[in-house]
Amino acid sequence: MKKIKVLSVFGTRPEAIKMCPLVRHLASLSEVDSLCCLTGQHREMLDSVMDIFKIKADYDLNIMQARQTLSSITSRTLLGMDAVIEQAKPDLILVHGDTSTTFAGALAAFYHKVPVGHVEAGLRTGDKYSPYPEEMNRSLVGRIAELHFCPTVNNLRNLEREAVPGDKFITGNTVIDAMKTTVRPDFVFSVPELNELDFANRRVIAVTCHRRENYGEPMREIMEALRELALTHPEVELVYPVHLSPVVRECVFGILKDLPRIHLIDPIDVENMHNLMARCSFVMTDSGGLQEEAPALGKPVLVLRRETERPEAVKAGTVKLAGVKKQDVLALAEELLTDKAAYEAMAHAVNPYGDGHACERIAQGILWHFGLASDKPADFHA
Ligand code: UD1
Ligand code: UDP
Repeated sequence: MKKIKVLSVFGTRPEAIKMCPLVRHLASLSEVDSLCCLTGQHREMLDSVMDIFKIKADYDLNIMQARQTLSSITSRTLLGMDAVIEQAKPDLILVHGDTSTTFAGALAAFYHKVPVGHVEAGLRTGDKYSPYPEEMNRSLVGRIAELHFCPTVNNLRNLEREAVPGDKFITGNTVIDAMKTTVRPDFVFSVPELNELDFANRRVIAVTCHRRENYGEPMREIMEALRELALTHPEVELVYPVHLSPVVRECVFGILKDLPRIHLIDPIDVENMHNLMARCSFVMTDSGGLQEEAPALGKPVLVLRRETERPEAVKAGTVKLAGVKKQDVLALAEELLTDKAAYEAMAHAVNPYGDGHACERIAQGILWHFGLASDKPADFHA
């Protein structure tokens, strides 16, 4: 029997965290020849994920440059993918989410007339500049892809509203699959500073912030809010693994460096991150992934953005949009610190994004598409 050759293409930390469980699952199937191509859009932050999931890439375009532009990521990926596709001759290329790697990977596949499967399809804000450039990336990949693996029914409806053609599936998000292996009550952090934190008696807040549309004034306002929070609340310990982007680091260290109770650390690997979230009091972030992970762990999330493409957990009551104004961010954080009822109302575990079986559904969807499974996978229901 000829195997289906599936080439998974990814390049940033969040794509790797969400694609590695799928790559591993596909590799276990007798019907699939699973290959993996990294663009290397991120370097250290990507390699750390590959190490945790013990996956070796078949190809690595190694495109990252310091302060890279969107055009350089896109053009270097496109050019690099030509040779990879010609050599690998895949039957299907899988891309994930909404990064520039995702868009350029899908476009390269299209130029070679290779069908595309889009994992984490159908997320939308409706504003092409927010998140930027992700909203446009994922919309364009939606037009290119033949298979759309939507985490939620809401994502599927977005594609239907846009009359996007192709096979559509509701699978849940693969990040919930990843969390089955990363979160452990007996986990010991590999970062000494995290092991020294008194999670039981202090209010530990896990923070991340990196988005391009927050560069400049919004990020400064967010950092000012964090600064005031730590200075005025002695019960707080702020733990912030700072993204390696120089633009982000200049802003964050410029405002928060050397302050009491603010722990600015380098990015931590995904096991340390998931277990930090599992033990913290609440999360403040502009990250997409954290908005999906923290609710599954029963942790309230304040989203440091003006909008979100993930309304499911907002509806479930565990996530609030804080915006990017200092006073708004501060007010919501103080409410969580001082109002027990408000905290309890947000601190319940919900799983609108998955049940840990997304990879199986995606794999079955691929087999079904190629005529190797008789049934379409059953939809994920929250
Ligand atoms: C990218 C994605 C964004 C995603 C984010 C996850 C695009 C346009 N943006 O944004 O959707 O949410 O990744 O983190 O695709 N750097 C390093 N080492 C690393 C990683 C980054 O030094 O391991 C530095 C480099 O100087 C690089 C800069 O960070 O130029 C920015 O990286 P880039 O991928 O362009 O943007 P992100 O903000 O990370
Ligand atoms: N993450 C991590 N280490 C960190 C910060 C985040 O492993 O220091 C994980 C986090 O748990 C989530 C993913 O990285 O799974 C989110 O990535 P990021 O915030 O960079 O991107 P986004 O989700 O916003 O696209």
